[in-house]
Amino acid sequence: KDEKIWLTLSFGMIMIFMLVTGYQTFALEMGPPSNMETIDPQKVDQTPPFDNPGIKQIGENEYEVVMTLQIFSFTPANIEVPAGSTVHFIMTSKDVTHGFQVAGTNLNAMVMPGHIQRITQKFDKAGEYLVLCNEYCGAGHQLMGTTITVK
Ligand code: CUA
Repeated sequence: KDEKIWLTLSFGMIMIFMLVTGYQTFALEMGPPSNMETIDPQKVDQTPPFDNPGIKQIGENEYEVVMTLQIFSFTPANIEVPAGSTVHFIMTSKDVTHGFQVAGTNLNAMVMPGHIQRITQKFDKAGEYLVLCNEYCGAGHQLMGTTITVK
């Protein structure tokens, strides 16, 4: 009789464990935390601020870059900012998941369709920073890159 109880108990434990693991996997695969802003990926061009992508000065040493990522480019491309600038990137994807990685910095973000990604970086050192997509996004993935020039 004891054996049956233990069998039932361990089976129950296994079930609970599987449910928890399953839920965690599910939650992780569901992507970003729910506090991330959403956007209709079909209507990026009509949705502010993405109806007007570009770079805008918002303070003495502060810039805002509204950027769309799409196969296989970054809009705007070839950004230029003065050395010492703090740059606030506001990004979304118009199609599939892309990556936004800036060589020589800690900038590394996933940019997903349907979500708005905000990330801030200060650029102290002058130079040309390579921007790369680091999420496989299709046949032209390797070609998806641009630069940020700090002068
Ligand atoms: Cu975009 Cu890889």
